[in-house]
Amino acid sequence: MFVTKIKIIGNEPEKEYAQTVSLEHRKKFAQFFTPYVVAEFMTEWILGNKQLKTVLDPAFGLGIFARAIREIDKNCLINGFEIDKNILYKAKEIFEKDLNTNIVFKDYIFNDWGNRYDGIICNPPYFKFHDYDNKAMLKEIEEKLGLKLNGFTNLYTIFLLKSTYQLNKNGRAAYIVPSEFLNSDYGKLVKFYLLKNKLLRYVMVFDFEENVFDDALTTASILLFANDDEKSGVEFINIKTIDELNSLQKKIRSYPIRKSENLVSFSELKPEIKWRAYYQKQNAKHFKNLVPFTNYGKVVRGIATGANDYFTFSKSKAEKFNISEKNLLPCITKSVDVCGSFFTKDKFEELKKQDKSVYLFKVNDLQEKSVINYIAKGEMEEINKRYLTASRNPWYSLEKRSPSPIWVSVFNRNGLRFIRNEANISNLTTFHCIYLNMFSKSKVDLFFAYLLTNVSKEIFNDNRREYGNGLNKFEPNDINKALMVNLDLINKEDEKKILNLYKNYRKSELSGNANTSLLEAINDIFVSIFT
Ligand SMILES: C[S@@+](CC[C@H](N)C(=O)[O-])C[C@H]1O[C@@H](n2cnc3c(N)ncnc32)[C@H](O)[C@@H]1O
Repeated sequence: MFVTKIKIIGNEPEKEYAQTVSLEHRKKFAQFFTPYVVAEFMTEWILGNKQLKTVLDPAFGLGIFARAIREIDKNCLINGFEIDKNILYKAKEIFEKDLNTNIVFKDYIFNDWGNRYDGIICNPPYFKFHDYDNKAMLKEIEEKLGLKLNGFTNLYTIFLLKSTYQLNKNGRAAYIVPSEFLNSDYGKLVKFYLLKNKLLRYVMVFDFEENVFDDALTTASILLFANDDEKSGVEFINIKTIDELNSLQKKIRSYPIRKSENLVSFSELKPEIKWRAYYQKQNAKHFKNLVPFTNYGKVVRGIATGANDYFTFSKSKAEKFNISEKNLLPCITKSVDVCGSFFTKDKFEELKKQDKSVYLFKVNDLQEKSVINYIAKGEMEEINKRYLTASRNPWYSLEKRSPSPIWVSVFNRNGLRFIRNEANISNLTTFHCIYLNMFSKSKVDLFFAYLLTNVSKEIFNDNRREYGNGLNKFEPNDINKALMVNLDLINKEDEKKILNLYKNYRKSELSGNANTSLLEAINDIFVSIFT
């Protein structure tokens, strides 16, 4: 039986729910629940508004926030929105006897624009917009807030912006959201709006190794807002573990008194930069003579097929469908197929032998019967109607991308991983491609030796995106916008030393006995020149 009391301290209802409802359903509605201690902390902030009479939870779920509020305040009116009938029914059971809590089966974004609240508390759904009905929502935001967001915006930021608009005078809002928008391109406009309305008071960022939401691969931040006159700026706080919320409680209790070295005034805050700069030590600051990465090259993503199962081939699959080599493009399709920092022709031959998928279907000869048949098979399976294939002409053509001399991994746990593509073959999106410009092509070995060092990783790390559980992601533009050392300042003698160490390291790695002390020696040279 489902729990029916209101006085539920802890996450029992959510645990019970997660056990009975499929992960697929939960993902469909982005049902990742707030840990109770976090809900209590956020509740404390909104109850700091001593005139609080009305509260809104725009993404109600099982009402964790309303439950935490009821521990302290029995009387305030709580409005909740929910679009999943299933969870709504269960929430209504929990709040059956609570006549001051009203949960409606409505989409928050399209409703309630006319109401204002003394407290708003929320863990919004997060969906990338292109998997969602975005046009209507973006139109709503544009009409109501005068803000033209782009299609990459994530739904949680739309919730956030709408809620700040709905705050009464002296109202308080607490949101728990992924930290991504603080450091991403789509977040710029959101930050711009938040700076314009000057309601943001605290940004509390969980350390990326602390997985706040059990099943969601995302980092979390608590954002606290107040529609009052204490407009000195935003305070940035790093939270290493959830337990630290206890000590932070004291801090928010003393609001509006704030004296912190982490307070950044509204005029200092820049919407266009990654806000990590305000809450994390920037590694680049330890180095001198840094220049934009784009002085040397450019990163673009690997080939996206839109249907990897269809387009990728192993040798045996090619035999089965009788596709000849001239209609196959050598290509790395999975990052696990590449180990070490040097991908040689021998390694590629080895993958072929192991019957790995190392080719892409690339039609060069439309006369071949087997090619015609394979295209027909694709059409029968409606591969031609997929999102990416439908936009190509003909649908089975591949994106034009020449093999790049260097690859870089997209997801990382221990800093960026660079690979020298000596075999000169193509790659899918599992790696990004690094192309050097015409001036730096001749320096490819020096450039790559640098990429292998900890100095480069440290500097690149300033531009990472953090996912939960210690996972980092780099989009091509994160690297394009990063800094690196000015290779032109390395004198001939040092360059020779670096190249020598690099050659020996390459040899040692390819012989199966990587001598990392050689990499350390290269690193030391860069440290001595650039610190
Ligand atoms: C991340 S969960 C948070 C649930 C709960 N408040 C908590 O913190 O544990 C988001 C909830 O919002 C609901 N939801 C998703 N889209 C919504 C929308 N457009 N309007 C209202 N609720 C929505 C989901 O069904 C889900 O229950």
